[in-house]
Amino acid sequence: MSALPRLAVLGSGKGSNFVALQEAILAGKLRAQIVLVASDMADAVILSRALGFGLPTATLPPSPFRTKLSPEGEIALVELLKENDIEWVVLAGYMRVVKEPLLKAFPQRIINIHPSLLPAFKGLKAWEQALAAGVAETGCTVHYVNQDIDAGEIIGQQRVPVLPGDTAESLHARIQVAEHELYPAALAKVLSR
Ligand code: GAR
Repeated sequence: MSALPRLAVLGSGKGSNFVALQEAILAGKLRAQIVLVASDMADAVILSRALGFGLPTATLPPSPFRTKLSPEGEIALVELLKENDIEWVVLAGYMRVVKEPLLKAFPQRIINIHPSLLPAFKGLKAWEQALAAGVAETGCTVHYVNQDIDAGEIIGQQRVPVLPGDTAESLHARIQVAEHELYPAALAKVLSR
């Protein structure tokens, strides 16, 4: 049997998508191994959740920019990923824009999940955008990451209804249930190619 693909998961927040991926791996539904979980936020819950699974973690150096790593910080991240023989970079609530050093080091090997049916509602808090737009349906998208924000080739999508009385919180919670199904399945599809 061939070696399991080596994944690094990058996240900035609570890490529920990371947990869904790791649980899919443990359940035998996703043939891969997460060998590193890294965050740009030292106190991110994703790191403690990774430790709970016994997985190695790393905190990225602080950045002077809110939306991206510093160029040196991103080069250090690439080195960290290379040292760990990472083959795929999986973004799970990673809130920094990926720049050239990382894109060049992992061409067509960086995957993201976004909480809308792209190309609708790119950018931050896509569920709030959907609510404000008054759409009847939104969802989530797994896609390749390229130099354009939330615009890389789409791998898979799952639809989610917007219900009467939805708040931003209730809608995001419903989208997250869909994300936790979609992400392991979409990643399995990519890794089997
Ligand atoms: C998810 O809803 C993910 O789609 C979103 O952040 C949340 C992270 O949740 N990502 C983006 O908006 C990226 N543009 P998690 O930390 O519980 O996985």
